[in-house]
Amino acid sequence: MKNITTVLEYHDRTKHRPTRYAASLGYMDWATQPNPFRRYEGAELIPLKLSTITPPYHLLFGGDLPAAPLCLESVSQLLRYALGLAAWKSHSGSRWALRCNASSGNLQPSECYILTPALAGISQTPALSHYAPRENALEILHHFDTPLDIEENTVLIALSSIFWREAWKYGERCWRYCQLDAGHAYQAIKISAAVLGWKCDILSVDSKEIGRLCGLDQIHRFDPHEQESPDLLLRLSLSPAETSDIDLPALPQLDSRANILSPSHHNWPILEVIDAATQGVYPLTQSLTQSRITPPPSKSAGEIILKRRSAQMMDSTSITEEQFRRLLNASLFCSETSDVHFVLFVHRVEGLAKGLYTYVRNAADLESLKVAMDITFEWRDYSEGLYLLREGDYRGAAQMISCNQEIAKDAAFSFGMLCNFSGSLENHGAIGYKNLYHQCGAIGQMLYLEATSLGLSATGIGCFLDDEFHALLGLQDLKYQSLYHFTIGRAIVDARITTEEGY
Ligand SMILES: Cc1cc2nc3c(=O)[nH]c(=O)nc-3n(C[C@H](O)[C@H](O)[C@H](O)COP(=O)(O)O)c2cc1C
Repeated sequence: MKNITTVLEYHDRTKHRPTRYAASLGYMDWATQPNPFRRYEGAELIPLKLSTITPPYHLLFGGDLPAAPLCLESVSQLLRYALGLAAWKSHSGSRWALRCNASSGNLQPSECYILTPALAGISQTPALSHYAPRENALEILHHFDTPLDIEENTVLIALSSIFWREAWKYGERCWRYCQLDAGHAYQAIKISAAVLGWKCDILSVDSKEIGRLCGLDQIHRFDPHEQESPDLLLRLSLSPAETSDIDLPALPQLDSRANILSPSHHNWPILEVIDAATQGVYPLTQSLTQSRITPPPSKSAGEIILKRRSAQMMDSTSITEEQFRRLLNASLFCSETSDVHFVLFVHRVEGLAKGLYTYVRNAADLESLKVAMDITFEWRDYSEGLYLLREGDYRGAAQMISCNQEIAKDAAFSFGMLCNFSGSLENHGAIGYKNLYHQCGAIGQMLYLEATSLGLSATGIGCFLDDEFHALLGLQDLKYQSLYHFTIGRAIVDARITTEEGY
């Protein structure tokens, strides 16, 4: 109960309100800007291979791509197209890297560890490595002497978050962004696994277990302000996994030390409190019953992954209803995200009246959504889970709710991810809060890619006025809460920014 109270307090305290944003420094302290690249001093560096041949994007969703063999080349491709650099950008003397996974403020809190069996080119015995995206290389943290008790043709990937990277800019609300980013990173890995014809499932969310496995609990190896909080342990396998019981290997004390990311730090004590309150486990089930429709032929998956970019400006043109429906439908590929529905501000979709719509992704919630929302909403059925709530021009409301960001009004549509908040807390306890962000982030990464495949662009919106949105929907309590916003349309590309390839 105490942990639930902590979640409710944190959630309320980190809401952005028209009169005050969640607590943060309020300015950019450039002297302490965190390094986005973690490295381990003393770790052996194994360069990964760069391959450019990937199957067409639409084939990732049929489930019948042949599985690539597990080898140095496939592990290289997996990591590069999941979390590797997608581009270098430069403007006015600044140069920055962008990655395949979207990240709030491009601050990149997510780190990735991989447990591989003996693989030629990596290690003659099973090994634990850290992925170094700038070098596109593995840093070997430990060679195990004995075989691992995991199925054949399987690798394990752990994700963790360095809160400090996001706290530097976003202060107390940053824990939310780190969890959304973890969801993006998870989905980026799942998609990259699908490119190889591999399966990806969540094996554990138990922070203690993941921390032990990757040496993140050996806290003397990290600056105290730059510790990593374990997020998810994923299993990637060439064929569907048969068991969820894996005996994870024990790690000795490691020698390598994590690099220092900032010369000094600002402290946000609430982050430790919310992190401690949201530990534990939740059931790891594929919960959506409908699956996505296989999209029509498209470009190569690799090209779409590398071209995915957040729009900074949108051009106010329309999209077709077919594109709109495909985007909604694509979210069903995230089959473990049944607690998330969309409430959409439709501005410019040919064939659809402008207005406020809802996309009910899990029909089990339909009646309770109707009860929770404004009783004067129409709920006009547009089939496949889409309902018109009220016709009207919501461009101003969308912009206002998205912290006045114009992309929310200039896009073809923008939306909030409305989550079954109290249901998740009741079912899973406080960790349900964390899980909802992972669900939203995963959907976000999927929709970015789908938009790119359609020649459109998207932008995740972490900055939104929580209760202004809830009030617009007539929500009176915490049954449903919006945890992530998103916008999709046609980007205006800023020609002043130059682009180079990631590698
Ligand atoms: C959780 C999350 C929240 C974000 N919030 C915003 C936002 O409020 N406004 C915005 O313009 N971009 C936002 N972005 C987009 C990021 O700034 C963008 O992903 C980052 O700069 C990297 O660029 P890329 O997506 O082109 O790789 C968000 C992204 C994520 C993943």
